[in-house]
Amino acid sequence: MKSVLITGGTEGIGRALASVMAAHGYRPVLVARNREKLEQAAAEIKAAYRLPALAVQADLSQPGSAGRLYRKLQEEKIGVDVLVNNAGVGFCGRSWEIPVADEEAMVMLNDAAMMSLTKLFARDMVARGEGTILNIASMAAFQPGPYMAGYYASKAFVLSYSEALAEELKGTGVHVVCYCPGQVDTGFLAKANSRRNFTAITAEQAAVQAYRALQRQRPVYIGRLFDRAGLLLPRGIRKILLARIKRGG
Ligand SMILES: NC(=O)c1ccc[n+]([C@@H]2O[C@H](COP(=O)([O-])OP(=O)(O)OC[C@H]3O[C@@H](n4cnc5c(N)ncnc54)[C@H](OP(=O)(O)O)[C@@H]3O)[C@@H](O)[C@H]2O)c1
Repeated sequence: MKSVLITGGTEGIGRALASVMAAHGYRPVLVARNREKLEQAAAEIKAAYRLPALAVQADLSQPGSAGRLYRKLQEEKIGVDVLVNNAGVGFCGRSWEIPVADEEAMVMLNDAAMMSLTKLFARDMVARGEGTILNIASMAAFQPGPYMAGYYASKAFVLSYSEALAEELKGTGVHVVCYCPGQVDTGFLAKANSRRNFTAITAEQAAVQAYRALQRQRPVYIGRLFDRAGLLLPRGIRKILLARIKRGG
């Protein structure tokens, strides 16, 4: 049975994707911080799909956490066929007013852990000649984001790293796919102090798009025509429009 490791697999997009992957016969290995939610999500998947879903507690914003997670799975002989770097956080506001510790932890989670997990699992996948890494970026990856500057920059990192790695891995049998959703109606928005807008899709819709991205195996996947069309506007104009919307002016 193939396994899919999903960071942030207990809520939002990650939780919905765990169900989609389980429905396609993958055994989910869920990673998050909250033990209760981990156990509940794993139990729900076991009951619904009759699959031995696993739950692993880890705080991926901690230095060295990616290596510890990788070694734990190796010790327990849990193979990973698909790695989904999904866990992420963001913060809205004037950049200088957002606590340094919050955005340091955000970069550790959104970027450093994503890169380290990718490297560690990619080595094994290359040795086996197969495997897929799905990195969840955002439409934020394509432009600067006034009033969410750190988050947008962290997602640009995810996109850039994923595209470069996809090129390096050509011919190895290993694929890197970067999925870039627009706004998704999850707990992320309240945690980020961000407002839901009319373009938001559900976590279930995002999970279906993410699964489609996995199947297509192209380096970058934007789920909606609406989002693709938005990229036709020059980057500088998009930045100014976004700043006006966020300022409410
Ligand atoms: N929602 C959106 O509008 C949107 C749009 C574009 C892209 N995205 C991206 O999609 C991904 C998923 O977002 P979402 O909306 O599904 O978020 P969410 O509903 O807030 O879920 C986040 C998940 O990540 C886990 N997590 C958070 N911090 C963690 C840490 N330090 N270590 C390990 N796990 C951690 C959470 O569990 P614990 O709290 O228990 O750790 C939870 O399972 C993120 O990368 C986000 O940037 C979201």
